[in-house]
Amino acid sequence: MNIVVLAGGYSHEREVSLSSGSLIANALMENGHQVIMLDLYFGTSEAATFEEAYEKLNKDKYEYKVRKQIPDLDALKAQKEKPNEMIGENIIPICQSADLVFLSLHGELGENGQLQAVFDLYDITYTGTGYLGSAIAMNKILSKEIMSAQGILTPEWEVLEQSDEPTSAVPCVVKPNASGSSIGVYIVDNQEDLKQAVKEAKKYSPSVLIEEKISGREFSVGVLEGKALPVIEIIPKTGFYDYENKYQEGATIEICPAEVDPVIAEKMQETALEVFKALRLEYYSRIDFMVSDDGGVYCIEANTLPGMTPTSLFPQEAAASGMSYNELCNKLAEIAAS
Ligand code: DAL
Ligand code: MG
Repeated sequence: MNIVVLAGGYSHEREVSLSSGSLIANALMENGHQVIMLDLYFGTSEAATFEEAYEKLNKDKYEYKVRKQIPDLDALKAQKEKPNEMIGENIIPICQSADLVFLSLHGELGENGQLQAVFDLYDITYTGTGYLGSAIAMNKILSKEIMSAQGILTPEWEVLEQSDEPTSAVPCVVKPNASGSSIGVYIVDNQEDLKQAVKEAKKYSPSVLIEEKISGREFSVGVLEGKALPVIEIIPKTGFYDYENKYQEGATIEICPAEVDPVIAEKMQETALEVFKALRLEYYSRIDFMVSDDGGVYCIEANTLPGMTPTSLFPQEAAASGMSYNELCNKLAEIAAS
């Protein structure tokens, strides 16, 4: 197939996306596909169609390491006034002459359904969940409301809009409503830090979510083709599973299949499938959990475009089920194109 791997873009998870994208592009090339990797933000000035781009772009092995620094979007914007101007004039024509767009975008536009809706209008085939499920899953508050209405356990939460003051008890977890990779997430244990954390989280999203802090263990479960993958346990060596602990190699211990009571593991896998359905997800996703010290299985959120970087969880779960990274990429491409 002729495949465009779409990555980068104007998102706080830009670095992560470029790292996922470069591994995906290499895997698809090794599987014999004709692949170009495009940055949603920069596009390419060298080509107007897939064929031209394939002819002209560098098709060597891609390599990208996530930089420690979370990207400063204002600095990026200084290079181009309108962040999304490439989409209509460059990205869409190239994607229209490809067989498939492999979405390797994380965060904001790219993961929140907007791009998926535009691609639907242009009859462009892409990997992963459509616009509705993407929009729901990117909105943590809406996801929790739906989970709760369906009887799926999720930590108690408070929503802060605009200048609302927090009333939650500490310790608690402060999160921007629509962000990923723990960017803008804080665990706080006193009221002063809570106020400061809310201020910081608001930089990433106008609505902020405060969750009760579940004391226990952290897990994640991938869903692929209607089945739950083996459960993975996440144990950061220090602090919590924040941006640095997610993407610095060796910073976190990941155990897959998780060494956990099989009844609890099964409960997480069942719940992952329920969440997948409730949030209208499609093809694949990664659902994150906390298991409390007394055995409660709490769903935290769903990720429609889970990270595919060297340290990411979803590929490790696929590997534990016997599927290599290359096979996983091929599978995701095949099921989207069929
Ligand atoms: N948002 C990151 C990429 C993840 O869920 O893996
Ligand atoms: Mg997430």
